[in-house]
Amino acid sequence: MNKNILRIVNLKKSFNHKNGMVKIFKDVSLVVKKGDLVALVGPSGSGKSTLLNMISLLDKPDSGEIFLNDIDLKKLDEDKKNYIRKKNISIIFQNNNLLNDFTAVENVVMPLIIRNEDKKKSYLKAKSILNNFNLSSRYDYFPDELSGGEQQRVAIARALISETDLILADEPTGNLDFKTSLEIFSYFLKLKKLNKTIIFATHNRELANKADYKLSISNGDIKRTNV
Ligand SMILES: Nc1ncnc2c1ncn2[C@@H]1O[C@H](COP(=O)(O)OP(=O)(O)OP(=O)(O)O)[C@@H](O)[C@H]1O
Ligand SMILES: [Mg+2]
Repeated sequence: MNKNILRIVNLKKSFNHKNGMVKIFKDVSLVVKKGDLVALVGPSGSGKSTLLNMISLLDKPDSGEIFLNDIDLKKLDEDKKNYIRKKNISIIFQNNNLLNDFTAVENVVMPLIIRNEDKKKSYLKAKSILNNFNLSSRYDYFPDELSGGEQQRVAIARALISETDLILADEPTGNLDFKTSLEIFSYFLKLKKLNKTIIFATHNRELANKADYKLSISNGDIKRTNV
């Protein structure tokens, strides 16, 4: 049986806003097993991005625990957090966060360069992933020379190249036509076969239904619903 890659226990999160306190999560507990392909669903403003930000160490819960591979994220110092961000988690953001001064292939290769991997091999790998996303003619384009969908595909390629165990994607297919969304989903399936865990936030019901199961945010809680 696969072990839990992610375990969330009694998580609470709210935001203080000048108009008052917004309670996002009241008391959330859940587990995700290694190799699960999970759709995170819920209305706009329900907390999908907030949850992904907490798992990826960009934000903190008010209380409760998040365990990644049985490590309590709260207990890590900054060095260990940075290490986990580099080695264990890939993030595809809602706005794709490409580096504007770097070309498509340079953006994709970045995680490997940061990890000091062999430059030549890394570039070959980056190009091969870009080819998988039909971007073989766009290696040397800068983000502002790419369409929204192309930028998103580059961002996904960048997240996938590191081959981390956990891939978090915040509406990765938001800007894409359905056919391209399905292609990206098929890449998620390939990663699942490699026992990678993928959690993707989406508003697209058809894609959500293709996941192993859904985590649905509603009224400050998250429930697992089988598709
Ligand atoms: N830094 C912040 N300060 C105050 N409120 C915030 C902050 N960040 C998020 N929120 C609020 O938390 C709620 C959840 O936001 P979040 O971005 O997680 O929603 P979401 O489910 O990802 O929505 P969408 O589908 O539109 O992306 C929203 O109501 C938002 O206004
Ligand atoms: Mg969001």
